[in-house]
Amino acid sequence: MTHLSKAVITAAGLGTRLLPSSKEIPKEMFPIFDLDESGSICVKPVMHRIFENLYDIGFKNFCIIVGRGKRSIEDHFTPDRVFSILAGDRVKPNMHNTLAGFYQKILDSKIFFINQPEPKGFGDAVLRAETFVGDEHFLLHAGDDLVLSKGHSHLVRLLDVFNRYRGDITVLAERVEKPSQYGVIVGEPVSGERYLIKVRDIVEKPAKPPSNIAVIGIYILSPRIFDALKHVEPDERGEIQLTTALKRLLEERGEGYAVLLRESEKRLDVGNPANYYRALVESYDFCIKRIKKS
Ligand code: G1P
Repeated sequence: MTHLSKAVITAAGLGTRLLPSSKEIPKEMFPIFDLDESGSICVKPVMHRIFENLYDIGFKNFCIIVGRGKRSIEDHFTPDRVFSILAGDRVKPNMHNTLAGFYQKILDSKIFFINQPEPKGFGDAVLRAETFVGDEHFLLHAGDDLVLSKGHSHLVRLLDVFNRYRGDITVLAERVEKPSQYGVIVGEPVSGERYLIKVRDIVEKPAKPPSNIAVIGIYILSPRIFDALKHVEPDERGEIQLTTALKRLLEERGEGYAVLLRESEKRLDVGNPANYYRALVESYDFCIKRIKKS
């Protein structure tokens, strides 16, 4: 389905807003609800679900940016045959099938892990993927942001907009009540397109948001982003912000498009306790609706 071949997933953030749970368990490994192979409700790490979403729409080359304390992510994406066989004996057979299905997807993919030696921000994490990406557009997915949709429609629509407009930036976005916690989009609707905004500017966590359109951490980016990132100065916390590089790309006549979520597409953000609570409720509800429809 996709013409892009490479996906970068960042999982290098410290997760300070989720302490003490995130002390040893990366926030990207926090569980949410999903359906297993037999259609029963199970718990699954956020990263696992992100990987499956991308795999299901055709991505096979992954680069996961990790850092100190993120070893459990590497282990999760390394099949454990012993556990799989034992699971077949002792646990319900659907658990065995669920693990076996996941392992097959891992074996069918190429997964690279790249280390971010110091937690210097989202932009710095993305820059680590430059050698993996090379000179192609790529999909970038934050490891703590997830959208649930039927048939992964949000990703299908993002790819469709990219294929039609070939922007340097194609990003998912949604209208929210408190945009000041996010990157905020300034732009105009594209005529004839109900869910598409031509992006003029992006402002990171503004005290006075210029719009209510918040960036979701799922982007298709041109490799020009790497040059832009190399010119970004660290912010007051010593972090390289991706948004600053996106702004630079737009200033250098790069084209940007924001694809707005539809009402049926649910964004889950596990970045802080209140949002994590909502992620649990929304993911459980999403499972129940799928069970009722089947
Ligand atoms: C990052 C981005 C922000 C975006 C958000 C989406 O912020 O910098 O522009 O809206 O992801 O989750 P963070 O959540 O890392 O603070």
